[in-house]
Amino acid sequence: MKAAVLNQSSYQLEVSELETPKPGKGEVLVKLKTASINHHELWSMQERSIFSQSAVIMGSDGAGEIVEVGPGVASTWIGKAVMINPSLNWGSNPRVQGPDYQILGFPRNGTFAEYISIPVEYVYEKPAHLDFDEASAIPLAGLTAYRALFTRGELERGSNVLITGVGGGAALFALQFATAAGASTYVTSGSEEKIQMAVSLGARAGVNYKESDWDKKLLALAGGFDIIIDSAAGAGFAALTELANPGARIVLFGRTAGKITQLNPSTIFWKQLSIHGSSMGSDAEFRAMLEFIDLKKVKPLVDTVFPLKSIMHAFEWMEAGKQFGKIIIRMDS
Ligand SMILES: NC(=O)c1ccc[n+]([C@@H]2O[C@H](COP(=O)([O-])OP(=O)(O)OC[C@H]3O[C@@H](n4cnc5c(N)ncnc54)[C@H](OP(=O)(O)O)[C@@H]3O)[C@@H](O)[C@H]2O)c1
Repeated sequence: MKAAVLNQSSYQLEVSELETPKPGKGEVLVKLKTASINHHELWSMQERSIFSQSAVIMGSDGAGEIVEVGPGVASTWIGKAVMINPSLNWGSNPRVQGPDYQILGFPRNGTFAEYISIPVEYVYEKPAHLDFDEASAIPLAGLTAYRALFTRGELERGSNVLITGVGGGAALFALQFATAAGASTYVTSGSEEKIQMAVSLGARAGVNYKESDWDKKLLALAGGFDIIIDSAAGAGFAALTELANPGARIVLFGRTAGKITQLNPSTIFWKQLSIHGSSMGSDAEFRAMLEFIDLKKVKPLVDTVFPLKSIMHAFEWMEAGKQFGKIIIRMDS
């Protein structure tokens, strides 16, 4: 099979010919049609943080068709259109992942390949209203957004929600989910065009975080927020605590803008704020997310589709930050 393999000297992905995996006990072999890329793969390449003796196939998100089953798996799975939950070995505690937790893509080989063998408990039937591009857009970013909003943020109908950096993959799912759940959503972005696109998806309004008075503008527009979903952190995070309503939840799952500085402790304790870290989600949350997507007929946004052989161009596109929606890799083009 063809797979994009990480060259551990150049930290670039190179398409190579590898042996197609055989599904082991309890596993299924998925012929992947599409994958999508995430920022964490870009961090791994930029920070040169992956070391392995064997060929590394990154990639957390994928959708395709089951073509073979291993021992112990019902043959009725064969032919099913599925998507993969990349959140492996969450464990038994819903509050936090256990010590054996992994994200699909390393150390377990991931989805930037024509085939993947994966335990059957991580495959889910593709919602019928989605095509394969849309299905592969969902898993990592959708799961992260779902847990951040509903479990950690305790979203309720009518809540005032702020989503920062709405051009981000997970942030965009947060906007779509919060809007579908009946919240009043506001966004920030570094691009006026993306703010307009967010408004066309249901956001009430947005401001550009590159403007010096972005926080004052947001306060004037929305009055304050019950839930803030942030993946940037950095110097702007302190302003989020000022924008939060008393009793608000601020949920953080990323570090795009770096370390947090100049937080005012009085703001946090006097307003009784809850600042939650959040990462990925459990099997139960993945299932609940798919049910929500099916119920509300949420359609993920696809920005650009690249063939597997151009996967490094896909990461260049992500680095340039121009996308609005997920960047998809197709295996057969
Ligand atoms: N913990 C987890 O489980 C988890 C899961 C998914 C992602 N993440 C993390 O979340 C972050 C985003 O990941 P992603 O895959 O969604 O990345 P992505 O699609 O590349 O999005 C990054 C976005 O960050 C926004 N941004 C950049 N500078 C900003 C700033 N100063 N303030 C506010 N927003 C800013 C930009 O939004 P605009 O284009 O609108 O300006 C950009 O589109 C990364 O740090 C990633 O590692 C963590």
